[in-house]
Amino acid sequence: MKANPAQTDAVILVGGRGTRLRPLTVNTPKPMLSTAGYPFLQHLLARIKAAGITHVVLGTSYRAEVFEEYFGDGSEMGLEIEYVVEEEALGTGGAIRNVYDRLRHETVMVFNGDVLAGTDLNAILETHESKNADVTMHLVRVSDPRAFGCVPTDTDGRVLEFLEKTEDPPTDQVNAGCYVFRREVVEAIPAKKVVSVERETFPQLLISGSRVYGHVDHAYWRDMGRPGDFVRGSSDLVRGVVHSPLLEGRTGESLVEASVGVAGGVILLGGTSIGRGSEIGAGCRLDGTVVFEGVTIEPGAVIEDSIIAAGARIGANARIKGCVIGEGAHIGARCELKSGMRVWPGVVIPDNGVRFSSDA
Ligand code: GTP
Repeated sequence: MKANPAQTDAVILVGGRGTRLRPLTVNTPKPMLSTAGYPFLQHLLARIKAAGITHVVLGTSYRAEVFEEYFGDGSEMGLEIEYVVEEEALGTGGAIRNVYDRLRHETVMVFNGDVLAGTDLNAILETHESKNADVTMHLVRVSDPRAFGCVPTDTDGRVLEFLEKTEDPPTDQVNAGCYVFRREVVEAIPAKKVVSVERETFPQLLISGSRVYGHVDHAYWRDMGRPGDFVRGSSDLVRGVVHSPLLEGRTGESLVEASVGVAGGVILLGGTSIGRGSEIGAGCRLDGTVVFEGVTIEPGAVIEDSIIAAGARIGANARIKGCVIGEGAHIGARCELKSGMRVWPGVVIPDNGVRFSSDA
């Protein structure tokens, strides 16, 4: 039987606290952070729609209200979106079980809401159908698998084991955070309990002899959970390194909203994106940087590989590299901020206030 995306439910897990991206996630859930001009989740929803899936259930918990306020019933995107809220976060497996009552079809495609991928979703569904699997996992081959859970498969693609992070992984195939479930497998997850799909559900399925298969590819893949990956993923979307249906025909060195004021001599490169209502002063140079809405950057600032949250102000001739600047923070003129610095929302750093050596 051929896989039919119209007969598939999409479930997106968006309830995590996004602690690794703090302070950006203090007020905004990670999947709603602006990435290449749109909330990250909107790129994923557009991919789901382009694949032919139209019914989407969002499993929410942290800052649950923000999602419905933005996407409503999904009709503007040609989707039908429903929301299920966990009062207490139930973990990835508990969250999947918690949307069971909203499922309409036998096939359920589950997405981590913070993964940027270029994989053909219909190809994963095809693998699921052709193997007559209970669960099919997207496995991506990465150059350094040590930071991820590894998933070896046999020659037929059947999953053999789920391995925790190890210094000596036996395979370069890692869990990509996208799964196809047979609906009854979702029903079998314990309800109203905290369950990890990675650490509990999948290993138990193997023990019980369920048919768990891998769909392995080399496609673009990035977990957007840390600032460095977030910046890189946004830049790759802007430059078209990974495709988003939202940016069709608009990819290039930078993405600038129409309402942005850009003064003379400004250089924007490396997939920099600038959000609505921001102002970029004369002679600034921004490389690989994500600027949210309503940011003011005064003349001569140089910013590289950084995230500047909404309403922040960057003083003239400031130098910022590899930093996260929180909402409404004010970085004084001529400040130098080095890699890894995170400035909390509303913090004011006076002119010349922070200086590091030039290798920062
Ligand atoms: P960190 O706190 O930085 O690790 O981020 P996170 O909270 O998003 O956790 P993680 O990256 O491991 O989560 C992977 C995906 O699952 C993300 O899209 C989360 O939003 C989602 N997620 C994690 N835990 C839960 C949960 O308890 N409930 C729901 N509904 N989603 C969850």
